[in-house]
Amino acid sequence: MTVKEALEWGRRCLQEAGREAQEAGRDVQVLLGHVLGVERAALFAHPERELSEEERRRLIALLERRRRGEPVAYLLGHKEFFGLDLLVDRRVLIPRPETELLVEEALTETRERLSRGEVPLLADIGTGSGAIAVALAVNEPRLPYLYACDCSAAALEVARVNCQRHGVAQRVRLLQGDLAGPLPEPVDLLVANLPYVGTEERELLAPDVRDFEPPEALFAGPRGLALLERLLLQLRERPVLKEGATVLLEIGYRQREALEALVRQLWPMLKLTCRRDYAGQERLLVLSF
Ligand SMILES: C[S@@+](CC[C@H](N)C(=O)[O-])C[C@H]1O[C@@H](n2cnc3c(N)ncnc32)[C@H](O)[C@@H]1O
Repeated sequence: MTVKEALEWGRRCLQEAGREAQEAGRDVQVLLGHVLGVERAALFAHPERELSEEERRRLIALLERRRRGEPVAYLLGHKEFFGLDLLVDRRVLIPRPETELLVEEALTETRERLSRGEVPLLADIGTGSGAIAVALAVNEPRLPYLYACDCSAAALEVARVNCQRHGVAQRVRLLQGDLAGPLPEPVDLLVANLPYVGTEERELLAPDVRDFEPPEALFAGPRGLALLERLLLQLRERPVLKEGATVLLEIGYRQREALEALVRQLWPMLKLTCRRDYAGQERLLVLSF
């Protein structure tokens, strides 16, 4: 079988399993590129190249898993986030492009503080693959260290590999525990992309997400608010934040009102703003203490 034939056959194979033509075509290109260890463009430069028996078998195995709905990032074992190549597998949520907005805001806030002569201490709560913490540590080498917390020991193993892969293992301190509970000292900037899908919305999720990503990285009570609400209560009750701290929370696009009401109840005078993502949805709550 040649590259050209494999691309055509693979696309049909995924389409028969219900994938739309464009997506099927793109997926098979990525998977074949992975098997052959080449960029997608190289597939089109050498369409006549013959696949070995081993390559053909590996492609078939990957296509079979994709047909069953397994996300491409898990099949490849990595995903790009904020320009960084990260290990991902079924122990962690696949980092989403919309979370890059949170990283951008956190970097802006960090740099403002650095330009005022402060060296802010950061914490990423619900770090998963470590995507946010690693992106912050790599992009702001002036931060001596930062914390990254998760309740899942398995997720923290993935985060550890990603810290090592990007040379920030000495600066990202991984802590296991509930929300901000494991932080040993108050921080200046707390960021979190916690689970915010409601169990009531489970059936609305794409099967690729619902059936493959870790449920503890997706769901937070019936309306998806349980963990964010509990984090806000923790911030009120415990000395998690330094004076003048900033909190950045990624939220579901219909959750601003409910969370804002809780924030107002806990801190009536607090400055609270909301940033929209590139699709115009309210996705980031900014709390300025
Ligand atoms: C939506 S994922 C986000 C992962 C990563 N921050 C990202 O943006 O790609 C949420 C993470 O929160 C973690 N988590 C869920 N409940 C938690 C809790 N009570 N305390 C700490 N982490 C929690 C999950 O294990 C998961 O890794």
